[in-house]
Amino acid sequence: MSSTETTGDTLDSPSETDVQAPADPETEGLATSADDLEWWRTAVIYQVYPRSFADGDGDGVGDLPGITARLDALVELGVDAVWLSPFYTSPQADAGYDVADYTDVDPLFGTLADFDALRARATELGLRLIVDLVPNHSSSAHVWFREALAAAPGSPERARYMFREGRGAEGELPPNNWESIFGGPAWSRITEADGSPGQWYLHLFDSSQPDLDWTNPWVRSTFLDVLRFWLDRGVDGFRVDVAHGLVKAEGLPDYTPPADAGSMGGGLGEDRTPPYWGQDGVHEIWREWRRVLDEYPGDRVLVAEAWVEPLSKLANWVRPDEMHQAFNFAYLETGWSAAEIRRVVDSSIEVFASVGAPSTWVLSNHDVVRHASRLALTAENPQGHGIGPRSPGLPIPELGLARARAATAVMLALPGSAYLYQGEELGLPEAVDLPDEARQDPTWFRTDGERYGRDGCRVPLPWESGSPAFGFSETGASWLPQPDDWSTYARDEQRGVPGSTLELYRSALALRSEHELGAGRLEWLSGWSDDVVAFRSGDVVVLANTGEVPVELPVADVLLSTMALDGPALPANAAVWLRAEGVTG
Ligand code: NOJ
Repeated sequence: MSSTETTGDTLDSPSETDVQAPADPETEGLATSADDLEWWRTAVIYQVYPRSFADGDGDGVGDLPGITARLDALVELGVDAVWLSPFYTSPQADAGYDVADYTDVDPLFGTLADFDALRARATELGLRLIVDLVPNHSSSAHVWFREALAAAPGSPERARYMFREGRGAEGELPPNNWESIFGGPAWSRITEADGSPGQWYLHLFDSSQPDLDWTNPWVRSTFLDVLRFWLDRGVDGFRVDVAHGLVKAEGLPDYTPPADAGSMGGGLGEDRTPPYWGQDGVHEIWREWRRVLDEYPGDRVLVAEAWVEPLSKLANWVRPDEMHQAFNFAYLETGWSAAEIRRVVDSSIEVFASVGAPSTWVLSNHDVVRHASRLALTAENPQGHGIGPRSPGLPIPELGLARARAATAVMLALPGSAYLYQGEELGLPEAVDLPDEARQDPTWFRTDGERYGRDGCRVPLPWESGSPAFGFSETGASWLPQPDDWSTYARDEQRGVPGSTLELYRSALALRSEHELGAGRLEWLSGWSDDVVAFRSGDVVVLANTGEVPVELPVADVLLSTMALDGPALPANAAVWLRAEGVTG
C-alpha cells in the first residue's frame, strides 16, 4: 500500500518480507534492553566546542568555567555525554587542534583545576565526559618540535616527527607531492641551526601542525602516558583526531587526491587508499590504546575520527580489540534523499554489527557546514570547502531548517549512538556572512580565501536574546561575530516554546530514551513512496518525507512531529514519530 494511494489511515503491519532480518543479539553486540548494554552503545553524545560554547571570563573566547556553568542546559536537553573539543595548551593556529602540551589546559580555557571542576560537575549531573586527543600531529610550538628543530638531522629528537631530505640537487624540492588538507604543500623546509637550508617536515594539516612519526616507539609510549593522565583524571574516553592518519605508507609515495575530497581531505569515495590514510599499521596502535583503556574500570571509550570509506573498511576501526565507536561520516555526507538514507542506514547497521559495534550517527560537527544549511545546498555549492557570501546559490534557510529537523528526527530514532554538535538543537544555520577579516580557519589563509573553511559552523552560541553577545559573553565580546538575527535562535527564545527546535530536540531525546530507540531493532516498512523513509523501531514508527509533495498519514498517535500537521498528511521535508500500536485500520 502506498501512502498516497491509501484511502485511509492505516499503516500496514510489515510482512515478513518487508522486514530486515533481525540481527542476532549474541553475535552482533545487540541486546534487548538498553539496560543490558554498555552506556556508549546507545548514548547521545553532545559535542562542546569550547571556544564557542560559553565564555566565563569575558574575553570573547569560551572556556571551561563557562562550560561548567552551563552544563545543566545539556541535562535539560537530555543528552548522556559530552565530548569536549581540545582545550589543551595551544597557540590556537587550528583552534586547539595544534597541541603544545597534551597534559595541561591552555590559559585561554582555564586551568587543570577548572577541568577537574568541570569533570566533577558533569559527574554530579550524570553526564559522561569524553575529551579530544590529537595524536597525528602536535603544534610546532610543542617543546618536542622545538627540540627537534634545535637538534641535528638523524637525532632522536628529529625522529619524533616526519623529517626528510628534499628532492632535487640541493634538496630544494619537497620529498613528495602531498598537499595539506588545508591547502598548499604538506611539507615545509626548515633552516638548520647553522643557517643552511635544511630538511623538510611533513604536516598533513597546517605548517604549525607537524606530523609525529608513529613508527617511533618513543611516540607510542609517550601517548600511552597521555592516555593514562586523562584516564586518571576521570575522563570516560577519547575522541581520537585523525584516527586514520597516524601511519604513512612506506616510502611516502606521491598521491593526488580527488578534487572533491571534502573538508577533511582526500580519498573518500574512491578505490585507492591514500598513502597517508587508513594504512594497516594504525590498527596496532588502537589495540595498544584499547589495552590501556581496558585497565580502567567503568566502560571508557575510544571514538575514531576516521574519514574512511567505504563503511566496511571503517568497521576495522571498531573491531572488538580496537576502538569502541567511529564517526559515521558516510551518514553525515548523505543528501536529503530517502533512497540514499535507506542505503546508508542499512549498510551502517550491517557493517558495524558485523564486528559487534554499534553504528553511530552524526549530522553536524565543527568541520562541516551545519546541517540546517547543508541539507539545502545544491550541486553548485557542495559543502566541502565551506560556504560564504560569494558562494553561488546559498541555501534557503527555511528549507534547510525544515530538512534538518526532519533529518534529526530520523537520526535520533536509529539504533546505536548519536552525536549532536552544539547549536544544532537551536536550529543554527551556517553563519555565511562572516567578514573576511574575521575569519580564522587556516584553510582560509592557506587557500588565499579560495575556500571559506569552517568558521561558519563555529560561531559562538546564542543563549539569551537580550544579552550582550546573546549571553555567550558578559562583555559582548565574541571571537567570531554572531549574526544579528541569531537573537531569534537564542535558547531563551525557544525554551518552553512548543514547536521550537530546542523543544523538538528535547522531546525527541526524551522519547528516544523512553522507547529505548538506541537499543532498538530497525525494520523498514514497505508500501511507501520512494521519497519516504519509513521504519519501525520497537513501538515507534518513523516516517520522513524527503519528496516535494505531502504524503498521507495513517491514523495514529503522533509522538513527535517536526512540522505542524494540518490533517492526516505529512508535508514535504517533515518527519513524524507515531505510536506503532495505535495505528489502526
Ligand atoms: C580533525 C579536526 O576535527 C579538525 O578540526 C582539525 O582541523 C583536524 N582534524 C586536524 O587536527
